Amino acid sequence: MSLSLPVRLVARAPAPRSLLGARILVVGREPCRRLFSSTPAARLTQPQKDIVKATVPILETGGEALTTHFYHLLLNNHPEVKPLFNQAHQGSGRQPRALAASILAYAKNIDDLTPLLDAVRRITNKHAALQILPEHYPLVGASLLGAIRDVLGEEVATEEVLEAWGAAYGELADLLIKKEENIYHDLESARGGWRGGRKFTVAQKVPETGIMTSFYLEPVDGRPILRHDAGQYIGLRAIVNGVEQRRNYSLSDSANDKYLRISVKREPGGAFSNYLHDRVKIGDELEVYPPVGEFVLDKSRADDPLILISAGAGITPTIPMLQSALEAGRRQITFIHCARAEDVHAFRPITTELAKQNPDTVKVYTVYETKDPHHVADATGMLSLDKLKSWLPHASQADIYFLGPKPFMKGVNFYLKSMGGPEDRIHYEFFGPAEELEDNKEVPEKSAKA
Ligand SMILES: Cc1cc2nc3c(=O)[nH]c(=O)nc-3n(C[C@H](O)[C@H](O)[C@H](O)COP(=O)(O)OP(=O)(O)OC[C@H]3O[C@@H](n4cnc5c(N)ncnc54)[C@H](O)[C@@H]3O)c2cc1C
Ligand code: HEM
Repeated sequence: MSLSLPVRLVARAPAPRSLLGARILVVGREPCRRLFSSTPAARLTQPQKDIVKATVPILETGGEALTTHFYHLLLNNHPEVKPLFNQAHQGSGRQPRALAASILAYAKNIDDLTPLLDAVRRITNKHAALQILPEHYPLVGASLLGAIRDVLGEEVATEEVLEAWGAAYGELADLLIKKEENIYHDLESARGGWRGGRKFTVAQKVPETGIMTSFYLEPVDGRPILRHDAGQYIGLRAIVNGVEQRRNYSLSDSANDKYLRISVKREPGGAFSNYLHDRVKIGDELEVYPPVGEFVLDKSRADDPLILISAGAGITPTIPMLQSALEAGRRQITFIHCARAEDVHAFRPITTELAKQNPDTVKVYTVYETKDPHHVADATGMLSLDKLKSWLPHASQADIYFLGPKPFMKGVNFYLKSMGGPEDRIHYEFFGPAEELEDNKEVPEKSAKA
């Protein structure tokens, strides 16, 4: 095939119109399944890579429409995978956006995937936390090719284009499957580790605030528990109102031999969090997938200042990070937390106590969004650049971890960069599919909104 063909195809196909217009066809899916299932053995060729790269302009303008249609096909044709996905992330478009971004990045970097290694780590950890298995990949592959064909139309999505994408998907799937198997293997072989679901009993249920409750989970089998890294999260599986659901929760206490602790904010209208708050009682059993995650303290920098910044429920992984950094015992730690008000400020007794016990190393600052009648907070309103500058004179030498709602994270990211916070030392995580923090929209001016 001539290398110029895909470029001509792209030029002939004004992306948004052909992606979203009337040419969208619902076609039989068997040919796509056949194309996909014929590819794993075949290696991706250079001409196929060129075809994939030539689709980047289409994906850039219409990638999200493609993945939205892809999810529609996947969930309709394979309802058995529906419980793996959080339906709220589909409804809000976050998951289709995250998948679109990853496919685009893959197509752009298909000659050398090195720039994608961090994203691959994030995706494989998230997949492992939800128990994505090799047998799920062909279902996704067939739906992806079906969506490419439906959305682009047969004239653009020729057999060659579909073959190229089938081969490319096969390579990426192989890579993810191998990495995920490594994660499952390591989790299973570690002391106290396991593979798949393990039953834990709810040993304690402790309200942290009016909207956040901690659950202490002890293994039913009484065997040891894998020692997680501070910042990692687990997967939970449960039948909620007759429907299977899976969710991730950060571990909010440091590793110990007895229990795992999660701290769950009640989400208005949320399926799993309300189930945990209202229905799950002490003595009930929950199915737990082992701890994973790459939002963890970088142990190689244990002497450098550490900055932990959170808002709302984002405080959960920063508590074990604070505890674990203190155990290592050498670094200056600044802990900043933003809450709507004092009555929804979780873990205040713990952070206040740790600051009191370690006056030379730990500084804790609090920002409340609304009026602070008891004068507990160090600032009221939003976290501002001025406050960050005065609290973090050492930002350019520190390791920084932050987490909270997206507007807050955008603001914090923007300020930290403007204060000289080094790119490779600024770490963050989302309580959902990863999103873009630097898309030039809604650039914060003076404050980070929680
Ligand atoms: C790595 C990670 C760590 C996490 N750690 C924590 C933690 O420590 N503590 C914590 O509290 N949470 C944490 N979360 C978030 C947690 O996984 C859940 O997302 C959260 O508890 C809400 O789940 P839910 O089932 O209650 O709400 P969902 O049912 O998922 O609903 C969420 C919101 O979306 C709305 N919604 C539901 N369905 C739709 C739809 N179809 N379309 C549009 N909107 C819809 C709901 O009304 C609700 O407002 C973490 C998430 C991740 C990924
Ligand atoms: C090459 C194939 C795949 C790619 C590129 C891919 C990519 C992604 C990305 C980018 C995310 C978001 C990660 C984040 O949180 O930041 C994600 C999450 C997820 N993926 Fe995949 N994925 C692939 C295959 C699969 C398969 C085979 C399944 C199972 C059917 C699957 C199920 C999920 C689920 C359930 C989530 C979490 C969704 C949520 O939070 O609602 N993925 N994937």
